[in-house]
Amino acid sequence: VPKVIIDTDAGVDDALAIFMALAAHKRKEIEVIAVTTVQGNTEVHNVNTNVLRILNTAALLEIPVYSGATKSLVHQWTHPGERFHGSDGFGDAQLPSLPLVTSLLKPQHAVWALIELVNKYPKEIMLAALGPLTNLALAIRLDPLFTSHLLGIYMMGGNTTGLGNITSSAEFNFMCDPEAARVVLDETLIPIHLTPWEMCLNGVKIPYSQREKMGQMKSPAAELMNKIESNIIKTKEFANWITCDQLAVAWLIDSAKTQHLNTNCKIDSDVGDKTSDGSRLVSSTSSCFATVELNGNLTRGQMAIDHRELMGRTPNLIIMTSLDEHLYLQYLRMAFGGNFEK
Ligand code: BDR
Ligand code: CA
Repeated sequence: VPKVIIDTDAGVDDALAIFMALAAHKRKEIEVIAVTTVQGNTEVHNVNTNVLRILNTAALLEIPVYSGATKSLVHQWTHPGERFHGSDGFGDAQLPSLPLVTSLLKPQHAVWALIELVNKYPKEIMLAALGPLTNLALAIRLDPLFTSHLLGIYMMGGNTTGLGNITSSAEFNFMCDPEAARVVLDETLIPIHLTPWEMCLNGVKIPYSQREKMGQMKSPAAELMNKIESNIIKTKEFANWITCDQLAVAWLIDSAKTQHLNTNCKIDSDVGDKTSDGSRLVSSTSSCFATVELNGNLTRGQMAIDHRELMGRTPNLIIMTSLDEHLYLQYLRMAFGGNFEK
């Protein structure tokens, strides 16, 4: 089974995405070999605590956690008031304190761990990139061939239509460290499977009532998720319950299971053409070359797609454009601890 590393800024949607990966790990569909952390939704020390809390809840504390970048590459993004994830990344849910956090972390820095692991297991590791791309950009700078050793990259981030969620035109993970996103998009040597913000907002519509139903499952994962998402469910800031990182991880697991890993895939360079990568979950994708705006007064962090191939670059992205909602709900149920029907 493919090995998986999760790079995360957990975060409530990261949390459910990680539970989903851990459920697949228990079912032996993937093997989660490490979690690497990065600042983003909250400071990295909170992210570390949150990840350890998830692993503890899933009784999988043996999975190693490596602490990563504490700051963005150039400009530290200051949050204009965190409404979604709370100041601790877990909805300020007043959870009981978790002892021994620092002793549970591996001493090695996340970036070195990433480099060492992909070199140890060339073409065996699928990477889920669920936060700002600082760790990955640093890994590429230290080892320019880093991404070529991966079996696949499944990333949540960016946008395809200029629709922003943290500024009027940028998505959070890219906006948090646009320079890192630029390095990763421009220099990754295999196609990136990208779940953009548009998919999270409009690609799947899950009513809050459905979320609450899933949360009624009697499982440690559901119990933790209900606590950390209680504000989100109460305030209903969006019309539907929003999932982001869960989409990227569901795609990763589905690709792992269906063996359509796409490392050497032929990318259809026609952006207008919907292409399916063979996964059962994702029903259409589009491919293109895209990079990130760094200097716009209003558009810093926005993904810039070379629709007309004017840059002369090989396509670097396989973008999710639609998915089987019924199957996705089954992945979500699996994450909450429910049964996964075939
Ligand atoms: C992304 O930003 C974070 O807030 C979420 O965890 C997700 O990774 C959505 O834009
Ligand atoms: Ca995230």
